[in-house]
Amino acid sequence: MSPGANLDRSKVGVETDLPYRIIQITDSHLGASRDQALLGINSYQSLELVVQLVEQERGQNFDRILGSGDISFDGSEQSYRNYLGLMERFERPISWIPGNHDCPEMMDSIIDAPLLQQSKLVKLPNWQLILLNSKISGATGGLLQEHELQLLENALQQANGKHSLVCLHHQPVPVGSQWLDPQQLSNAAHFFEIIDRYPGTRLVLWGHIHQLFDATREHIRLLSTPSTCHQFEPQQRKFKIGQQLPGYRWIDLYPNGTVDTGVSRIKSSPFEIDYQSNGY
Ligand SMILES: [Fe+2]
Repeated sequence: MSPGANLDRSKVGVETDLPYRIIQITDSHLGASRDQALLGINSYQSLELVVQLVEQERGQNFDRILGSGDISFDGSEQSYRNYLGLMERFERPISWIPGNHDCPEMMDSIIDAPLLQQSKLVKLPNWQLILLNSKISGATGGLLQEHELQLLENALQQANGKHSLVCLHHQPVPVGSQWLDPQQLSNAAHFFEIIDRYPGTRLVLWGHIHQLFDATREHIRLLSTPSTCHQFEPQQRKFKIGQQLPGYRWIDLYPNGTVDTGVSRIKSSPFEIDYQSNGY
């Protein structure tokens, strides 16, 4: 079935084999100002181009938006309002987790956005979404604190036959760039030790590395997704901005545990990107 095929979303999970469809949006790096430019890219306009791409390719033919961190670059309330203003166009539930640039307290304080669901455990008919916070205050790299590991373990223990998607901001495996790999989840061994104790995890999903990553670890798919803003060139020793275009990931979760997924990118960028930058 093609990704954009028109399905009756009301029947998802109800005695059918229709997939539950997620759109992953990651690393938008929005500011309080919609004019904020990072390395030559207006992050708000770049996200808006990706949103328009989702509209063209998907319409409303999906079930949830999942933001996998670095939604904001400055942690301001307005940056999150800017994000929600764009996402609310889809009229679908919105889930999000914090990244290293985010302010988790500010995110949690937003309680008046009608489509925003702050729950860290989303139970669906055949699947559950386990949404973890890997941000450490003041650091770029990731760590799952004890209560996050406990959330993961409790959810897997009580899965009751449901398949699990686990989402966090930081990569739990090396991705082959010497400057990014030290930012990996520092307690990844503990993370996978918990996951391996239970049978139901099908997919681990993250952001942070601003590039596509797709691998498997036994029966688990490991995926990351391009940023909606600037890209990092894969397999680099030092920080290097990539020429790949911003995009999003679609994920179809089938009742039998099968995952179908892909990444789609905008076709051209209107921005003059600073490819020589050493960082931001
Ligand atoms: Fe980021």
